[in-house]
Amino acid sequence: MASSTFIKSIFLSILVLVSLCQAQKSASKPKAGLLPVSKDPSTLQYITRLNIGTPSVPKTLVVDLGGRYTWIDCTNGYNSSTYKPGICGSAPCSLAKSSGACTKDKINICYLIPENTVTGNIDLFGEVAMDKISLQSTDGSKPGPLNSVQDFIFSCARDHKLVIDLARGAKGMLALGRNPVGLPTQLASFFGGGLRRKFAICLPSKPKTNGVIFFGDSPYIFYPSYNESKTMDVSSRFAYTKLYVNPVSTAGAYTRGEQSTEYFVGVNSITVERKPIRINSTLLSINNRGYGGTKISTVRPYTVVESSIYRALVKAFDEAIIPVWNVSKVKPVKPFNDCYAVGNMGMTPLGIGAPDIAFVFENNVKWEIYGANSMVEISSNVYCLGFLDGGSRPRTSIVIGAHQLEDNLLQFDLAASKLAFSQTLILGAIECSNFKF
Ligand SMILES: *[C@@H]1O[C@H](CO)[C@@H](O)[C@H](O)[C@H]1NC(C)=O
Ligand SMILES: *[C@@H]1O[C@H](CO)[C@@H](O)[C@H](O)[C@H]1NC(C)=O
Ligand SMILES: *[C@@H]1O[C@H](CO)[C@@H](O)[C@H](O)[C@H]1NC(C)=O
Ligand SMILES: *[C@@H]1O[C@H](CO)[C@@H](O)[C@H](O)[C@H]1NC(C)=O
Repeated sequence: MASSTFIKSIFLSILVLVSLCQAQKSASKPKAGLLPVSKDPSTLQYITRLNIGTPSVPKTLVVDLGGRYTWIDCTNGYNSSTYKPGICGSAPCSLAKSSGACTKDKINICYLIPENTVTGNIDLFGEVAMDKISLQSTDGSKPGPLNSVQDFIFSCARDHKLVIDLARGAKGMLALGRNPVGLPTQLASFFGGGLRRKFAICLPSKPKTNGVIFFGDSPYIFYPSYNESKTMDVSSRFAYTKLYVNPVSTAGAYTRGEQSTEYFVGVNSITVERKPIRINSTLLSINNRGYGGTKISTVRPYTVVESSIYRALVKAFDEAIIPVWNVSKVKPVKPFNDCYAVGNMGMTPLGIGAPDIAFVFENNVKWEIYGANSMVEISSNVYCLGFLDGGSRPRTSIVIGAHQLEDNLLQFDLAASKLAFSQTLILGAIECSNFKF
């Protein structure tokens, strides 16, 4: 009897252990993770807080959608017992494509050149580094338990001036770019098959609210402003288009043959009130020197287009807005060139009433942009067109900037090279801040 009870209890404890291990396993292998993202009102940059090091410290970082590698200012308050430098010849150095700048003297640490992509400044002596980070897991509807990632690869900046012109309190930039050391790929590699090589951004339009960055696949569940319990998976609204790779790096400093880590899409035309504007089609494709094409950026606050495209856009916009809304143009308000006295433009649920602008991708897939994303309020009487003139020979002809991304959810699928986008969520009375943190 006694021995059978004993065996039973051993059996039970094994069961308990097995289920505990399984619970732990599923906790440590999340299908998705998330980070909050908010808008800094003075710089219009988007910032997040990443828990890093031991003890774990939240660092404020500027979100750089196309960034090559995350970098952190290590000169100031970086003190972690799990920090490891990248040793020359080690896997992190080759993954990070650290340039040949390995010093063969006593330290033998590999180098990376971190870039502040807001200013274009670089630090020649950034080091490849690894440390533990932790992120909240999610089922798509709310944050779940924290998960740690060991040996997250980033670049430690040794020049404290690199953070100049970043949002107040920011200690570096979080890179979501398309390369082995971008955060989305590192998370997918660390957590294995469950967490897919996809991520989604939903940038909030209002300061002091949190939007969300999801790592891994949908659902991405938000609630409409009128009823918190009527939740919706916004991936059901997705339209799709291809992502392209620019074969020539767009970074400030790079090694020969390196491709760009930024996300390019194929815009075939831009329409105003459904009529295409005239665009020199050469500008819309990426040539063999890496010029032209369209990319998406979170570090440019407004969409910037090549001069001839800008002029065509404004011409069509003026023709549509001036007679219909009886508005008059007023003098430019920096950084904008084209500003309007409101006239008969009225407020709508989609922002100030203005002609619709759309980016048209392959197969006539359209991304419609309404007043909330096309216009910028200067005062109650004056609104400006939220697009900027990028000059006559910009590296990239169209840079879709953050104002146009706000309250839209965009999913970047790195494995399938596809962009999924929701169009403006405001159509369903949802804002990016309507996620239950
Ligand atoms: C770094 O952290 C360790 C352990 O937490 C502590 O003993 C040490 O004083 C810290 N150093 C600095 C420069 O803050
Ligand atoms: C909100 O939605 C829930 C679920 O659909 C519904 O039961 C509830 O009555 C709604 N509340 C209001 C105030 O409309
Ligand atoms: C179109 O743009 C390309 C690249 O800037 C330029 O070389 C070409 O002359 C332009 N074509 C026309 C018709 O303006
Ligand atoms: C258009 O605006 C002008 C001046 O702002 C005003 O005098 C005129 O009555 C307006 N017309 C209409 C149709 O609203």
